[in-house]
Amino acid sequence: MEPENFSKLQVHIDRYKLVAGGLLPLLHAIQDDIGYIPEESYAPIGKALNLSVAEVHGVVSFYHHFRTQPAGKHVVHICRAESCQAMGSTELEAHAKSLLGIDYHETSADSAFTLEPVYCLGNCSLSPSVMVDEKVHGRVSKARLDSLIQAARGTK
Ligand code: FES
Repeated sequence: MEPENFSKLQVHIDRYKLVAGGLLPLLHAIQDDIGYIPEESYAPIGKALNLSVAEVHGVVSFYHHFRTQPAGKHVVHICRAESCQAMGSTELEAHAKSLLGIDYHETSADSAFTLEPVYCLGNCSLSPSVMVDEKVHGRVSKARLDSLIQAARGTK
């Protein structure tokens, strides 16, 4: 872990170490700030919250939201919840996996994209929905997904 990330980690640990049930908000804060939960953080988190490394690891691995490796430059979330599935998100996710050459929870070899499932983006009336980085898009067809990914490639 880079020294600056270790400093950030300590700030979050100090904030949540005395909070009851602080592990989950702490993990969210770390991932929001650093982008992932470094495995080297399990020991200091456990020590501060009086948990074993195995317990911290268990929680991180239980929730698919948490990643233990840095994400790609862009994160593509495909909605897999009911409304989007009814409107074709299953084909859309197959297309995304083929287009990017990765499965869910993976990052492309060029580190440009990480693909993640999500269970409702609050955009059900415009299903199927996709989120690219922080922006939600509705009624996404395969062609529209191609365009979104192409546009993301052109940024950063
Ligand atoms: S089910 Fe996909 S946005 Fe709600």
